[in-house]
Amino acid sequence: NVLQASSSSLRPSATVSAIELADIDWDNLGFGLQPTDYMYFMKCDQGGTFTKGQLKRFGNIELNPSAGVLNYGQGLFEGLKAYRKEDGNILLFRPEENALRMKMGAERMCMPSPSVEQFVEAVKDTVLANKRWIPPQGKGSLYIRPLLMGSGAVLGLAPAPEYTFLIYVSPVGNYFKEGLAPINLIVESELHRATPGGTGGVKTIGNYAAVLKAQSAAKAKGYSDVLYLDCVHKRYLEEVSSCNIFVVKNELHHLMFWYCTCKISMAASWPMGNVISTPSIKGTILPGITRKSIIDVARSQGFEVEERLVSVDELVEADEVFCTGTAVVVSPVGSVTYHGKKVSYGDGIGAVSQQLYTVLTRLQMGLAEDNMNWTVEL
Ligand code: COI
Repeated sequence: NVLQASSSSLRPSATVSAIELADIDWDNLGFGLQPTDYMYFMKCDQGGTFTKGQLKRFGNIELNPSAGVLNYGQGLFEGLKAYRKEDGNILLFRPEENALRMKMGAERMCMPSPSVEQFVEAVKDTVLANKRWIPPQGKGSLYIRPLLMGSGAVLGLAPAPEYTFLIYVSPVGNYFKEGLAPINLIVESELHRATPGGTGGVKTIGNYAAVLKAQSAAKAKGYSDVLYLDCVHKRYLEEVSSCNIFVVKNELHHLMFWYCTCKISMAASWPMGNVISTPSIKGTILPGITRKSIIDVARSQGFEVEERLVSVDELVEADEVFCTGTAVVVSPVGSVTYHGKKVSYGDGIGAVSQQLYTVLTRLQMGLAEDNMNWTVEL
C-alpha cells in the first residue's frame, strides 16, 4: 500500500495511464471530495527537517488527540490544480508559488516547512500516482490540497514537537453551484475574517473556520458567498470567503456620462477604457496566486490594474466585479448587496471577466502558448 515517493522510476508511466480514466461521471463534477488512489505523507523530525516522503493509499490518518493542529489550530493548507492537455500530458500551474506561500505561512505559524523542491516533487508524485483522476480536458481539473500540520502532541500552549506534510487530490469542476454564471454576494460589515497583525495574509486553517458563520447565514438567505470589509474602518473591501475580489470601472462610460450631462470638454489625458482595481495585500488579505496571475494577465492584455484601498462605495459605480482563486478560477459577480441595497452587474459574464478567464484558462490547459512560463509539464 505504500510507494516510496520522489523516485521517477516509481511514477506510473505516462503512456500507460494516459488513456486510463477513473469510472466516474466526468460531466457532472462539482467541488466535492472524490476519494482518489494515493495521498502523500512526509513527517519532519524534532530538528525540523522533512525527510523522504511516501505515497500511501488514500484514507484516514491517525493523530494524537493532543496534536497541535487539533488543539491549537497549528495548520496551513494550499490549493493548486493539474490540468490534462489535449495530448494527454499534464500541466501544473505555478506549483513553486504555492511552495513559497506555504513557507511564508509556516514562518508565521511557527512551523517548519518542506523546501520548495520537496513541495514541488511531492505534488508531482501525488498527481502522477492519481493520474486516472485528472478530468479529460474541458471537464475540470485535479484539485491538489497540500496540508502542513502540527501533528505532535502538546498540552500547554506551544508549537508542536512534530509536523506532518500531506497532499491529497480530488477531481473538481466549478466551485460555485451557479457554475460559470454570476454569483451574488452580500457585504458583511460586523463579522471579520482578519485583523491587522493577525493571520489573514497566510493560508492558515483557522481563517476558513472564521468565515463559516457569516457564510452559512448568507447562504441561508440565498446569497452565494460573503464579501468582507476591513475591521478598522468597516469600509474597504478585503476578500470573499474563499477568493480575492476585483472591481472593473470603464472610465470611458463615466467620461461619456459627464460629457453628455455637463458638456465638459474631453481632456486628451483623461484615462480611457477599463481600469481594474483590487485591494492591495497588506497582511489581512490572502496573496492569491490566481489574483497575482490575473493582474499580470490583465496588464499583458493592456488593462490598467491598480492595487489599492477599494472602498465599498465603489461597488455602486463599478461596471463589473469578479472574484479570483484557485478553486473559483475567475468567477463573475452578478450582484452585491450592502446594507440591504443590491447593486447588479447584469445577467451574464462581463466582457472583462470573460476575457481574463479565457486567457488564463487557455494557458492553464495548454491551449495557448505559455509566454509567462507558469506551467510545469509532467
Ligand atoms: C483555493 O482556491 O484553493 C482555496 O483555498 C479555497 C478553498 C476554501 C476552497
